[in-house]
Amino acid sequence: MKEIVPSPPPIVRNDVAAVQNLFQQNVIPSYGRFDLVVSHGAGSCLFDVTGKRYLDMGGGIAVNSLGHAHPAITEALLEQSRKLVHVSNLYYHEHQGRLAQALVGLVAPGKCFFSNSGGEANEGLFKLARKFGHDEGRFEIITALNSFHGRTLAGISATGQDKVKKGFEPMTPGFLQVPYNDLAAVRAAISPATIAVLIEGIQGEGGVTPARADYLLGLRKLCDEKRLLLLMDGVQDGYFRTGRFQCFQRILEDAAGANGFLPDAISMAKSLGGGFPIGAFWVRAPHADVLSAGTHGTTYGGSPLGCAVALKVLEVVQRENLADNARNMGGWLKAELAKLAQKFPGVIEDVRGLGFMLGMALRPSIPNLPGENTKPVAVRFVHLLHTLGLLTIPAGTQVVRLLPPLNLRQGDAEEALRIIEDACARIA
Ligand SMILES: Cc1ncc(COP(=O)(O)O)c(C=O)c1O
Repeated sequence: MKEIVPSPPPIVRNDVAAVQNLFQQNVIPSYGRFDLVVSHGAGSCLFDVTGKRYLDMGGGIAVNSLGHAHPAITEALLEQSRKLVHVSNLYYHEHQGRLAQALVGLVAPGKCFFSNSGGEANEGLFKLARKFGHDEGRFEIITALNSFHGRTLAGISATGQDKVKKGFEPMTPGFLQVPYNDLAAVRAAISPATIAVLIEGIQGEGGVTPARADYLLGLRKLCDEKRLLLLMDGVQDGYFRTGRFQCFQRILEDAAGANGFLPDAISMAKSLGGGFPIGAFWVRAPHADVLSAGTHGTTYGGSPLGCAVALKVLEVVQRENLADNARNMGGWLKAELAKLAQKFPGVIEDVRGLGFMLGMALRPSIPNLPGENTKPVAVRFVHLLHTLGLLTIPAGTQVVRLLPPLNLRQGDAEEALRIIEDACARIA
């Protein structure tokens, strides 16, 4: 096949130190990076520049919904880019309309706005809430401790983790945090200025903690009673990862009284584009026109290219029943990890999550775990897994996340388990 992107010069292709040097000299050091220089990917595998293969159970932090280099994504990119890559939001185009229609169909009557990232989708939720409460002077948004809502200034203000706020004070006014899964705490925090409650259905960066069904149902009732918007950040836990389009649909599946439960707005991103940067937020019908013409916008949001790719990803997910794959294989993986937790109680403390959003909570101290003691156990365990050829994602200090592609195959899941078991056996 004709090469679309020319091969990088040999120095980039072969030399780990040279690439790292390019970063050290030229890239703002805002990320803590692992010592790994990636070259290319295929399916559930990534390869580094030395040719080493890694099984990728991190999926670019829940982004690569169809794995790496999926031919359907490549084709959609090629086909659409031959016709139209970008057009401003001054005009209409079919792909944005069709993608919005598809997302509305997957949730409930309402409308969508398209952004470029999860953080930007959340900004839309904040502006929706501010606009909704503006004339009554209500603007405060209650969020949860341990939450994560992105790295914009409002995003870190909404986030319930001090580490993302430190050094950037003062925070954007109008956000306060209360304990997660604690309805009474939300009730107690409501003031005459409150306009909305924002939560993740499963806290991701905070350590893979699912909301309880009674908490979600209680929040809906409370928000109705106090005329507040219930906002859900579905950036990481959404897009079929739990076996349903949005994770509240999965959490509430067997809950009594859950019929008709709906948030007022949901942010999305990550898996939506399978690696192409696209985000969105959906707003429930009665509030779908609150952000009227001229009140919100973004140059690249909902481009023909982004929407064509997202539509293609959705087509593949639906055609191949990948939601069921995430539910079933994720359930199997979780059960197997729970067995490992029993076998290695000195290493794994708890296994949490739903579908393909799983977290292994490690013991706070694992004496035989290689790496500097000053580094969190989660980072050291993830590094150990790297040496054994498996990519996972740390969350907080103690949790290791598995966020694999939705089309993961059984053989890959088995290989991941074997590697995790091997790692545990080495340090138990
Ligand atoms: C729940 C949640 N919200 C928002 C974000 C921010 O998304 P982005 O990095 O695309 O801005 C993330 C990213 O990890 C996330 O997990």
